[in-house]
Amino acid sequence: MAETGINILGVSGSIRKESFNTQLLTVALELAERHGARVTRLDLGAINLPFYDADLEAKSGLPETVRQLKKQFEEADGLIIATPEYNGFFPGILKNCFDWLTRRTGPDDPILSAFNGKVAGVMSATVGGSGGIRSLTSLTTQLHYLGVTVLPRPFSLMHAGKVFGDSGALPAESLAVLDETVTGLLRALGKPD
Ligand SMILES: Cc1cc2nc3c(=O)[nH]c(=O)nc-3n(C[C@H](O)[C@H](O)[C@H](O)COP(=O)(O)O)c2cc1C
Repeated sequence: MAETGINILGVSGSIRKESFNTQLLTVALELAERHGARVTRLDLGAINLPFYDADLEAKSGLPETVRQLKKQFEEADGLIIATPEYNGFFPGILKNCFDWLTRRTGPDDPILSAFNGKVAGVMSATVGGSGGIRSLTSLTTQLHYLGVTVLPRPFSLMHAGKVFGDSGALPAESLAVLDETVTGLLRALGKPD
């Protein structure tokens, strides 16, 4: 597939080694790449992001990790976010990341520079039967607040343990629906049909 020049940043809201959401994100990013996007991913478990602390920020400014994170978001045209559902909500690790990302490097850094103009495809995998619909609702509300356009019809995967099975592959039917989410995102970002 021809290069589209579209940059997609993938984020999983789970840092668990065998995370179903991280598996789902991997499949989604592979699809995006196959459709000509350049993809990068953010591994929240690898970057040592502190809890947001206004005292820390006042004392030392934005941590270098946050500056790099902001750059990664600013360089992306679109986001693919796979979120677990924790107690009916998207997880704190994502919220903490978003909170840091809203902080400005200085007066020349436009407000919400990490988020403005971005389009996101959101998805969730749960072991139970909810498919993470509540985490998707709360994540969508958060992203709208931050100025991100969220694609309608998020991808929802219930009984993820059974669906992924031992192979870690998605059945053809689910893969086709996920592919629609990914192509919808690329189309929203200007990829011609
Ligand atoms: C603290 C906690 C809260 C959870 N709350 C929910 C929930 O509200 N709804 C749900 O469907 N699953 C819930 N689960 C189960 C998760 O869907 C399941 O652990 C899933 O595998 C987590 O995603 P991951 O595989 O990407 O780590 C919860 C799990 C934990 C640890």
